[in-house]
Amino acid sequence: MGMRVLVCGGAGYIGSHTVIQLLAAGHDVLILDNFANSKPAVIKRLESITGEHLRVHAFDLRDAERTERLFDHEQIEAVIHFAGHKAVGESVEKPLEYYQNNLGSTFSLLRAMERHGVTKLVFSSSATVYGENAPVPMTEDLPTSATNPYGWTKVMIEQVLRDVAVAQPDQRIAILRYFNPVGAHRSGTIGEDPSGIPNNLLPYICQVAVGRLQKLRVFGDDYDTPDGTALRDYIHVEDLAAGHVAALARLTATERAVSTWNLGTGNGSSVLEMLHAFERAVGRTLPYEIVGRRAGDIAASFADPGRARAELGWKATHTIDDMCVDSWRWQSQNPNGYPDA
Ligand SMILES: NC(=O)c1ccc[n+]([C@@H]2O[C@H](COP(=O)([O-])OP(=O)(O)OC[C@H]3O[C@@H](n4cnc5c(N)ncnc54)[C@H](O)[C@@H]3O)[C@@H](O)[C@H]2O)c1
Repeated sequence: MGMRVLVCGGAGYIGSHTVIQLLAAGHDVLILDNFANSKPAVIKRLESITGEHLRVHAFDLRDAERTERLFDHEQIEAVIHFAGHKAVGESVEKPLEYYQNNLGSTFSLLRAMERHGVTKLVFSSSATVYGENAPVPMTEDLPTSATNPYGWTKVMIEQVLRDVAVAQPDQRIAILRYFNPVGAHRSGTIGEDPSGIPNNLLPYICQVAVGRLQKLRVFGDDYDTPDGTALRDYIHVEDLAAGHVAALARLTATERAVSTWNLGTGNGSSVLEMLHAFERAVGRTLPYEIVGRRAGDIAASFADPGRARAELGWKATHTIDDMCVDSWRWQSQNPNGYPDA
């Protein structure tokens, strides 16, 4: 049954792809975003993909009064909370901004939900909460920790959510721990559009392929992995979006106040494997150099996605070649990302 779903951070990379699938699943969607890390142009593109007019509330979720008013005026039944800052390196330089934005937006949201009796929440967490020394594949019951302020905001918000659920046992909260989202919608009209030099591998390779960056720097080839480069669990953003729709459906049927699900494929792919998959997508080799390890990087991170499979009936279906083909379609059609206006 369709619900009216507030998508906080719905103009962002993962949020925008999820909006399409929520609409396709029959939900009524409201987007809240302050466009701190996204551009209004994404909304037009979403409207042309879905053929629907989208209602967008452009304000900062930390603005508790406006958030209250939104809940006063709309019969919101569920919330997906993507809103937050996400750049690890920047979080080390600006910890207070990260704590303020990521925690502050969550507090204002949880308050409004409590006052308006909204009991379904899906929260964007991250595999970063498994910290530095977690064994792979990573299961949801591992202890959590972090190595940077961004990661700590996720660890802290998860704890806040568990505490809120104790005090409000009718809450149905999904904590989704994403592994490494990549790829783009098959239309090539929406995708990841990082500002500045990308931190993540695929956006970086995309910009090398399109000529915005000179060559890929591979951070370390002396890890204890098959080709010496670090392993990550890359997941197509379309699979991730489908995981949100499945989690939302599950929240209407579960007795558990808080559920935590890994969203990953269960496969670790190396940096060089991803580079070569991307070269296949582009049809030419791409320049790269091996440099030293990057502080804070771990050798291998990949999910045990068994719980999501068993409880959500969800499973990632896209291959790394699909991810690269779709990323490249987006990047080659939009070499400079979204237009400003
Ligand atoms: N992309 C990843 O690799 C990844 C991995 C794990 C977890 N996550 C988490 O998933 C969520 C979405 O990630 P994304 O890649 O789509 O990021 P994104 O930056 O593209 O999207 C986040 C959106 O939230 C908005 N926003 C930020 N602060 C806000 C505020 N205070 N009020 C209103 N809007 C605000 C931004 O403008 C942006 O549109 C984030 O919480 C992120 O931490 C992302």
